[in-house]
Amino acid sequence: MNIILLGPPGAGKGTQARRLEKERGLIQLSTGDMLREARTSGTEMGRKVAAIMDAGELVTDDIVIGLIEEKLKSGEGRGFIFDGFPRTLAQADALEDLLARHGQKLDAVIELRVDDDALVKRISGRYTCGDCGEVYHDDTKPSAEAGKCDKCGSTNLKRRADDNPEALKTRLMEYYKKTSPLIGYYYAKGLLHPVDGLAPIEDVARQIAGILDRIGSP
Ligand code: AP5
Repeated sequence: MNIILLGPPGAGKGTQARRLEKERGLIQLSTGDMLREARTSGTEMGRKVAAIMDAGELVTDDIVIGLIEEKLKSGEGRGFIFDGFPRTLAQADALEDLLARHGQKLDAVIELRVDDDALVKRISGRYTCGDCGEVYHDDTKPSAEAGKCDKCGSTNLKRRADDNPEALKTRLMEYYKKTSPLIGYYYAKGLLHPVDGLAPIEDVARQIAGILDRIGSP
């Protein structure tokens, strides 16, 4: 089974993708995580990617499509959760082609619906474990022991460079201009499943589980 988690910055895509990976054995493919890794490579491409991400703009289609293609080659068979990809119509078309080339198809697009005020609160309170990637929030999901990851025990907890009010404004603008047209695109293909992303994390997970069970998850 291959699914997309679609939604604006802070909608909860990463949080839900990590749960699905654990619960359903699917592989999370987060282009944001891949690009954050690429920016530390010390290459010219890495420096360009870092500047674009810090400003809150979208990285070019060819770079992200190339990253996804590499991952699809290496993890065939288990099914994927696309987290933060596709973000443009060109990326959506490329994904369809790539999956078809691997004899696969897209099974569902889960749209996480959240209003903008909630997004600002979520982004401004978020921190993540730099070692295992677990996602926390100052108010809604703090780590049990301050400064220590519940999952792996690391003290390397950090905040993202693009989680500031100025970059968030640009990220939201990019979402509404370039990514939100995908909602209509996938609706027309009969693949769209909206969920109430404002509900607590457990409730959102239950809504998604209900959808996947209905359409026949592994
Ligand atoms: P990316 O890393 O994909 O960031 P994003 O889309 O902005 O999404 P976020 O990671 O900010 O949020 P999320 O929806 O995963 O929310 P989370 O679960 O963390 O992309 C970063 C950048 O990379 C882009 O700006 C762009 O430059 C580039 N990029 C990436 N992909 C690209 C592509 N395909 N094409 C071009 N450029 C690309 O949750 C947020 C917070 O809320 C957390 O603290 C969490 O604990 C909390 N929370 C989650 N769910 C709930 C809930 N239900 N109730 C209360 N709190 C909740």
